Amino acid sequence: EKGNYRHFMQKEIFEQPTVVAQTLASYVHRADEVVALPQIDFDLSAIKRITIVACGTSYYAGLVAKYWFEQFARVPVDIDVASEFRYREPVLEDGGLALFISQSGETADTLAALRHCKEAGQTIGVVVNVPTSSMAREADLLLPTHAGPEIGVASTKAFTCQLAVLAALAAHLAVKKGRMDRAEEQEVVKHLLEAPACLNAALAHDDDIAAMAHLIAPARDVLYLGRGSDFPLAMEGALKLKEISYIHAEGYASGEMKHGPIALIDDKVPVIVLAPSGSLFEKTVSNMQEVSARGGQIVLISDKEGIEAAGEGCIATIEMPKVHPLIAPLVYAVPVQLLAYHVACAKGTDVDQPRNLAKSVTVE
Ligand code: M6R
Repeated sequence: EKGNYRHFMQKEIFEQPTVVAQTLASYVHRADEVVALPQIDFDLSAIKRITIVACGTSYYAGLVAKYWFEQFARVPVDIDVASEFRYREPVLEDGGLALFISQSGETADTLAALRHCKEAGQTIGVVVNVPTSSMAREADLLLPTHAGPEIGVASTKAFTCQLAVLAALAAHLAVKKGRMDRAEEQEVVKHLLEAPACLNAALAHDDDIAAMAHLIAPARDVLYLGRGSDFPLAMEGALKLKEISYIHAEGYASGEMKHGPIALIDDKVPVIVLAPSGSLFEKTVSNMQEVSARGGQIVLISDKEGIEAAGEGCIATIEMPKVHPLIAPLVYAVPVQLLAYHVACAKGTDVDQPRNLAKSVTVE
């Protein structure tokens, strides 16, 4: 069922505009431009704190969502990888929403964390792609993603659909908390509905990305840099590359470079910079200059404005459409997925079944 695609991963990357639109269709009311969540039988406005728990790519979706919950709804968020969560003896006060994010809904560590939170009296929210999964069954608030079955071991379309659901939830919570008025909510919904077209525009650069894969394929180490809500995308990009191309990669907050990792930079280390133009751009450009000065080979992923301002001296640039900051994490997921995909193809690895990995991790 791969159709004209070589791999499931490739097919799933290209399905994103459709499945994100499908997911948004069940979370926003298009005509009124407001968020419409599934029936909830508890008072969301009473939520005092959110605890997010997930693994891998789903954890990175949670990291992006932390920015949104705090920025829009002003609700404090704690976030952990599931395998660490219970062992740090987290403080779980009354009035807390514990939110679990999982494609499969079966990841053992995440499920154990869910049960732990349930026992501690937290309200349990889950964002899952498999509606019949264990996590879905144990939720108080079930928020399904509508990505359809994801076959490739590397998660792609589930991630962007998780982001779509989480952005809608953050806006809804902000409204309930009296932090967002109707006009602002409509503004958020309008930008979310722009996502499918922007994802398509990002996918249109597939050939450019394929053509530059040979620049990354010989590398031993690759760094990914991002700021703000694009920082989790840098980590997601690094994870994708590690998983399927077996190249060591790290995602770093752009400003953290000079606190250590810059020591790794030489002319053999590609540095992938995710930097949409906007308020954080200038700061990231300074970090790029620090890398260039040490011979680092920069690949800049930005929009036209950003590439015009800072593309000179880069070994390659990947142009994204100009997008609202809210949807940048969804759109910038595409180039990092495609880059990992094409590098893996260049290296001839098994893209859909990378070594040592399972689609669903059901042991702790
Ligand atoms: O099914 P889940 O979302 O709970 O899975 C979590 C991770 O195992 C998963 O995201 C993993 O990191 C992927 N292979 C990433 O591409």
